[in-house]
Amino acid sequence: MIVTIDGPAGSGKSTAARKLAALLGIPYLDTGAMYRAITLKALDTGVSLDDPDALVALAKATDIQLDCGPTYVRVMMDGRDVSEAIRSMRVSQHTNPIARNPRIREVLVRKQAEIGRRLGSLVTEGRDQGSVVFPNADVKFLLDAADTKRAERRYVEIQADGEDVNYEDVLANIRARDANDQKQWAGLLESKQAVHIDTTHMTIAQVVEHLQAEIERQMAGRSR
Ligand code: DC
Repeated sequence: MIVTIDGPAGSGKSTAARKLAALLGIPYLDTGAMYRAITLKALDTGVSLDDPDALVALAKATDIQLDCGPTYVRVMMDGRDVSEAIRSMRVSQHTNPIARNPRIREVLVRKQAEIGRRLGSLVTEGRDQGSVVFPNADVKFLLDAADTKRAERRYVEIQADGEDVNYEDVLANIRARDANDQKQWAGLLESKQAVHIDTTHMTIAQVVEHLQAEIERQMAGRSR
């Protein structure tokens, strides 16, 4: 079974996807980690974020291995463990040139589709999972929440990781990424292929319960 969960930063999709995968007993894939790893490499190697061709070459030459567990995501980039480094605000603030580049998207989409083929079953989360990477997924979700609520959640997470940030910067970063992100799932919304859930007033436990119930409802409907 392939379940896709798309949505913006702070919508609750990462935690929900991870918990849902554990409940279903199938692997979980965090595709944002790939965009983050390429961003980190560009920043560390001094490749200009204003040079799309150099960024594409960098993406093609980068080996990214993901190990997504029920409580962790281990990311190896060219043999180096970058699991923590990719979560910094510095990386979050510079992902746009990577995520906006169609040729980098092509490279990463291919990697993600390959992982899907290899695993057969998975819960995958990102921005374009239901629309581009797994158009034939069994169940598709779109999670969203008010941007102020999403910023609040990210702020708490970043603080918990020990990084000193202010709420206004987190909110500005979320708003800056929203415009590009929304383009990725616009088609899903229009075609009503995904179940749309507003998580603003929901706890993670409620979100996961909702996802599970919806999967059961859709699967039962199909087996009739
Ligand atoms: O979900 P995240 O915050 O880890 O995502 C990091 C960046 O990658 C963010 O700018 C959105 C982008 N992204 C994307 O464009 N497509 C995906 N499938 C996953 C993430």
